[in-house]
Amino acid sequence: MTQDTKDIHPDFSGLLPREVKEGRLNQRGHVFWFYGLSGSGKSTLAYALEKRLFAEGYFVQILDGDNVRTGLNNNLGFSDEDRVENIRRISEVAKLFVQTGIVTLVSFITPKIAIREAAKAVIGEDDFTEIYVEASFETCAERDVKGLYAKAKAGEIKNFTGKDSAFEPPVDSDVFTVNTESKGIMECSNNLYDQLLPIIKLST
Ligand code: ADX
Repeated sequence: MTQDTKDIHPDFSGLLPREVKEGRLNQRGHVFWFYGLSGSGKSTLAYALEKRLFAEGYFVQILDGDNVRTGLNNNLGFSDEDRVENIRRISEVAKLFVQTGIVTLVSFITPKIAIREAAKAVIGEDDFTEIYVEASFETCAERDVKGLYAKAKAGEIKNFTGKDSAFEPPVDSDVFTVNTESKGIMECSNNLYDQLLPIIKLST
């Protein structure tokens, strides 16, 4: 805690309890944290899953580079330090959503195990499920949807993940893994939907 916040005394006792909000939404709030290389399909998968969940009556919020790095985090770059701060702020925002009962789909590279652990610590283990979106550097470079791999190859982007900034895949074999090289996005999204549904369904 910094000097400036030591005299702040949060009192949340006046807030409506989370369970009441979850009851209204008829769902359990939860954060699904998609991570993987740029171009692995994280956001595409999150968008497809959002549509499916919404169609089935669930209320969803997506946090990804397009709505966070262009606004809240537009002062951050891609140094190790800035990536840690990027994820710290996103975790705090995701925690606010989850506490109000919202199914929150978070999609960021989140390159290091320690950063993912920090996100889990902020959000809380019970409210957090990590999903590794797996595709090799070579495949992502071939897809190169945003043209960034070509730029990185030409030396025009510094600290590019998988090239001169490390990406650590999960070591725990229990982690939900979606491989977007072997299956199409719709199949991945429908499989995920089936697996995730029990987590957000309110037991009656
Ligand atoms: S993270 O490492 O801090 O989690 P984040 O997911 O927010 O990264 O941002 C990654 C996106 O920023 C990429 O998909 C790509 O569009 C863009 N980008 C720009 N520069 C870089 C870079 N040096 N490394 C990786 N992605 C970059």
